[in-house]
Amino acid sequence: MPKAPSCAMRLLTILLSSIVTSAAISPITTVDNLIVFGDSYTDEGRLAYFQSHNGTAPPAGTFIPTANVTASGGYTWPHFASQQLGATTYNYAVSGATCSNEIVYRYLESINGPFPSVIDYEIPAFLADVEYALGAKNSTFLSNRKPNNTVYTLWIGTNDLGVRAFLTDSQQPGTTISNFTDCIWSVFDAIYSTGGRHFVLFNEAPLDQSPLYASIHNGGVGDNQYWENKTSYNTTEFEQKMLEYTTSVNTIFSYGAPFQLLVEARWPGASFTIFDIHQLFLDIYSNPSEYLDAPANTNEPYYGCSITVLGSNNCTASEHSLSSFLWSVILGLITGNILT
Ligand SMILES: *[C@@H]1O[C@H](CO)[C@@H](O)[C@H](O)[C@H]1NC(C)=O
Ligand SMILES: *[C@@H]1O[C@H](CO)[C@@H](O)[C@H](O)[C@H]1NC(C)=O
Ligand SMILES: *[C@@H]1O[C@H](CO)[C@@H](O)[C@H](O)[C@H]1NC(C)=O
Ligand SMILES: *[C@@H]1O[C@H](CO)[C@@H](O)[C@H](O)[C@H]1NC(C)=O
Ligand SMILES: *[C@@H]1O[C@H](CO)[C@@H](O)[C@H](O)[C@H]1NC(C)=O
Ligand SMILES: *[C@@H]1O[C@H](CO)[C@@H](O)[C@H](O)[C@H]1NC(C)=O
Ligand SMILES: *[C@@H]1O[C@H](CO)[C@@H](O)[C@H](O)[C@H]1NC(C)=O
Ligand SMILES: *[C@@H]1O[C@H](CO)[C@@H](O)[C@H](O)[C@H]1NC(C)=O
Repeated sequence: MPKAPSCAMRLLTILLSSIVTSAAISPITTVDNLIVFGDSYTDEGRLAYFQSHNGTAPPAGTFIPTANVTASGGYTWPHFASQQLGATTYNYAVSGATCSNEIVYRYLESINGPFPSVIDYEIPAFLADVEYALGAKNSTFLSNRKPNNTVYTLWIGTNDLGVRAFLTDSQQPGTTISNFTDCIWSVFDAIYSTGGRHFVLFNEAPLDQSPLYASIHNGGVGDNQYWENKTSYNTTEFEQKMLEYTTSVNTIFSYGAPFQLLVEARWPGASFTIFDIHQLFLDIYSNPSEYLDAPANTNEPYYGCSITVLGSNNCTASEHSLSSFLWSVILGLITGNILT
């Protein structure tokens, strides 16, 4: 098992408290439901459902159970968080998701359409489930969801800011990173409208240091299944662009959250927490052995994938344990290792 019980405590504390709160909001003391939105860092099987049903979404009322095999290697973080909290997870995250397909549109052949995004798919799926739960009186599905016992989390941006998206200028014409951050606030508008009052936004990880986006000079991988012509670019420039995008988005989040909550009074009675996953990564980079089992490895992915077989999954697992690694594949994050 990975080390760092302090990390689990940190997550628990964060989910139970709040950094930014409007006046007179009592802190949440019991989390019965953890309702999560996001991408592969959070997904526990929703994209897999689409893929095994010819691109069809799960019908309203479908519970996505936790899974020990995910895109992030092993369990994803909601598994551990809900265990620690004694909460039920309702997981709307979809691997590969962006915030909005109107900003970044990435086609996925195996589902005959774009990756289902947070605003186009995940939020409507949650609203449909809320509707379903109101009608299904004899069901525990989403049945005890109250303002004071439910935390809503959003962790999105890795795909929005990356290759085939903002990093390679592949966003929809005329859209900007401000459109992306506006999309984030609108996600919480929708959650608020259903009675949600406790929000957690994960900020962007230091993706410039991931194997996928680090320059060749800094130990990043070369051409690969996610970015087949990475080495045709000046990877130093692209690493720096990624640093620019992620840190700028994080600055928008840190000023934007209190502005939206307190100045704009956008969500009266709500609490809003930013989980500084970016800083957690920097802590891990500066002290790997405190977080990962020996031999701690923050640079190479657990799965090495052959770059000669583009588009295929010819990946070989390391001889060392998964719990030694920060990255599973070159962008896949072993969230179970760092948030538990
Ligand atoms: C799968 O979906 C595609 C497009 O949505 C459709 O053309 C095809 O007939 C479907 N295949 C099956 C087996 O249902
Ligand atoms: C995942 O769970 C299944 C069923 O419980 C088990 O057979 C399998 O070994 C587990 N896989 C991993 C990687 O833990
Ligand atoms: C509620 O559902 C359960 C199982 O789904 C069933 O056994 C039970 O009879 C139902 N109760 C009522 C009152 O419909
Ligand atoms: C949550 O609110 C309900 C009323 O909706 C109240 O009965 C309950 O005591 C509150 N729980 C906590 C832990 O504050
Ligand atoms: C992007 O932002 C601009 C300026 O606010 C707005 O006019 C435009 O409609 C937005 N586009 C999308 C797709 O959200
Ligand atoms: C990389 O590949 C993409 C997709 O095929 C292409 O649009 C782009 O021009 C290529 N970039 C370079 C620098 O070769
Ligand atoms: C790549 O970009 C960096 C940063 O702009 C620059 O210093 C370097 O000279 C470039 N390398 C090449 C080969 O153009
Ligand atoms: C997969 O990669 C290994 C080494 O990384 C190589 O020996 C093997 O031939 C590859 N398999 C296929 C099907 O390409």
